Amino acid sequence: MQANDELKAEVRDFWDSKTCGTWEVEKEKFSKEYFEEIEDVRYKLQPEIFSFAEFTRYNSKKVLEVGVGAGTDFLQWVRAGAEAWGIDLTENACEHVRRRLELYNLKAQDIRVADSENLPFDDNSFDLVWSWGVIHHSPNTPKALYEIIRVLKPGAKAKIMIYHRHSILAYLFWVKHALLKFRPWKSLAWVLWNFMESSGTKAYTVKEVEKLLESKPVTNVKIKPVLTYYDKLLRFNKPMQLVSKLLAIILGGDKAGWFLTIEFDKKM
Ligand SMILES: C[S@@+](CC[C@H](N)C(=O)[O-])C[C@H]1O[C@@H](n2cnc3c(N)ncnc32)[C@H](O)[C@@H]1O
Repeated sequence: MQANDELKAEVRDFWDSKTCGTWEVEKEKFSKEYFEEIEDVRYKLQPEIFSFAEFTRYNSKKVLEVGVGAGTDFLQWVRAGAEAWGIDLTENACEHVRRRLELYNLKAQDIRVADSENLPFDDNSFDLVWSWGVIHHSPNTPKALYEIIRVLKPGAKAKIMIYHRHSILAYLFWVKHALLKFRPWKSLAWVLWNFMESSGTKAYTVKEVEKLLESKPVTNVKIKPVLTYYDKLLRFNKPMQLVSKLLAIILGGDKAGWFLTIEFDKKM
């Protein structure tokens, strides 16, 4: 338990000093230009969010976002007319979201600092829980997943993204941090835990997620990897992109994608 708390404090410190989605943005902090650049960059790099989220389908619905980061998706929920609640482990993230809402004169139900492993909401509260790229950073990811199920209303939906271990990005990360560092015996999990964003980051396989959801009160489970900007090495030169394309052909395209999208309904 102590180790879990210590790791969580490290995770909090990491994200508090580097609010997610703001790393490459150079505009003045909290200015309109700053927030607009965050939004442009996010959906340029992660366009798959739109078709998965279906923001506009949640007008008047109760939506909880777990791990709001800089709040770009949160803004879409509010713009779409959802009654939106948001939590994040860091005050800095919550401050970003509050400032953004203020800027556009938008209102949310509540934004607060909270832990995905202990959501401060009653059972059966929400029509949708959205969590993109968050719960794999929390030390007890299964607990965070089960909290999401707990707060969903019966019949309501969860849409979650966590990292996928058997992906091009993870394999290339292993080449960089294990093979080229002369420690090829180190596992993918070890490399991701130690070098991917905050300490203790995990990535899962489809089977592992199926197992986590086995015997939980959920139905219509869909678990799908998505080949991303990061797998395609679009930040790198053409020869590197060619390597990624070849790997994608060999490994089955989307099957080797870094994002694992998970969707399910809570049983009635
Ligand atoms: C990669 S960012 C993703 C943020 C946002 N969903 C996005 O896609 O831009 C990870 C976020 O998860 C938050 N986080 C990590 N562990 C958490 C926890 N146990 N409870 C709540 N938020 C957590 C971090 O503070 C950070 O804002």
